[in-house]
Amino acid sequence: MSTAAKEVRIAAVGCGRHATSRVFPCFAKLPVRLVGVCDLDPALAAANARRFAGESSFSDAATMLDQVRPDGLVVCAGPEAHVALALLALQRGIAVYTEKPAAPSAADAWKVAQAARAAGKLVMTGFKYRYGRAMDKVKAIMATPAFGKVVAINVLRCSGWMDNLPGQSRSQFLLDFCCHPIDMVCYVGGEVDEVYAIAHGQDSYAITLRFASGAVGTMMFSSRASWARPVDRTEILGERGHVITIDDQIFMRYHVDGAQKDGHDPKFCTAGSDSMEETGFIGEMRAFVEHLAGTRTIDSVPSRVDESVKSLALYEAILASLASGKPERPARFAASRSSGA
Ligand SMILES: NC(=O)c1ccc[n+]([C@@H]2O[C@H](COP(=O)([O-])OP(=O)(O)OC[C@H]3O[C@@H](n4cnc5c(N)ncnc54)[C@H](O)[C@@H]3O)[C@@H](O)[C@H]2O)c1
Repeated sequence: MSTAAKEVRIAAVGCGRHATSRVFPCFAKLPVRLVGVCDLDPALAAANARRFAGESSFSDAATMLDQVRPDGLVVCAGPEAHVALALLALQRGIAVYTEKPAAPSAADAWKVAQAARAAGKLVMTGFKYRYGRAMDKVKAIMATPAFGKVVAINVLRCSGWMDNLPGQSRSQFLLDFCCHPIDMVCYVGGEVDEVYAIAHGQDSYAITLRFASGAVGTMMFSSRASWARPVDRTEILGERGHVITIDDQIFMRYHVDGAQKDGHDPKFCTAGSDSMEETGFIGEMRAFVEHLAGTRTIDSVPSRVDESVKSLALYEAILASLASGKPERPARFAASRSSGA
């Protein structure tokens, strides 16, 4: 789908580290007017308004929404605030993009999904893995009859140390960092019927999965690597000797019976390559903007909040398995939305 030509009016809440380095820079690449910028810290809001051509700045989100009446709200503030701010916007009939995680729990994300359905508005989550160029190719390959069914998925994702402080969702390795690969296995493997997890403290996890399709999966997460050299590898195996390997969400190789058939290998030393496109940051914001401009339906947005309900349910089933020492089933939430809006 091409980028929407119509300019849409966006407001943004949260001007912290991630918003400033990865979210606001996307606006300049898309046909948007940044009509309002908000942070609890007015100095941060004013600074981002100056830096990213914001037309006004606020320290209260409700005041901003009532004054500037944007087409869409972009929120980058942490999972608890994502829920409260999404509901605030939906009450005013405004569509919402929030960063990941959509909520601190599947039940909270479900509340947002229900409110989105009642309002007939899009709420989407910033799951960039669903929007990178390599993933676009992976999904196209997986849709070919030759690839056939997925039989196995293997994920290895390692970072530097995270603190896991009680009550502080942003410090939780399994929630804040691993929500990306947990969501990605749902995207490529579909719904998970059963999960079993073992852990070394709160830093390393070995997890097995049984998908509803019958496929099996493994996920290995550890925060005992290094922020300077994180590890991110996914392997997807089809039923007829077809193997897809994705590294760092950016590079992809597709082998059939041992011979490379396709790949994605962007060259960052040339001006033509753009890591914000490759990593999916621009792609996810483009999907939001296209929807606001009327050229993309809610159904065609890959990371609707309904999808976050499923991946948060998988995250919670991992925690439940760690507590019980047994395989657990992720909670199922009924379809939360009528389609086609
Ligand atoms: N997609 C990714 O790769 C990625 C990477 C890093 C962080 N994130 C996510 O981005 C979000 C923000 O992370 P961060 O590191 O930028 O956090 P941060 O603490 O640096 O910034 C959060 C900002 O939100 C503001 N805020 C919080 N509640 C608010 C409210 N109700 N109204 C107005 N402003 C409010 C805070 O004042 C703060 O300035 C988190 O959910 C995090 O998980 C995503």
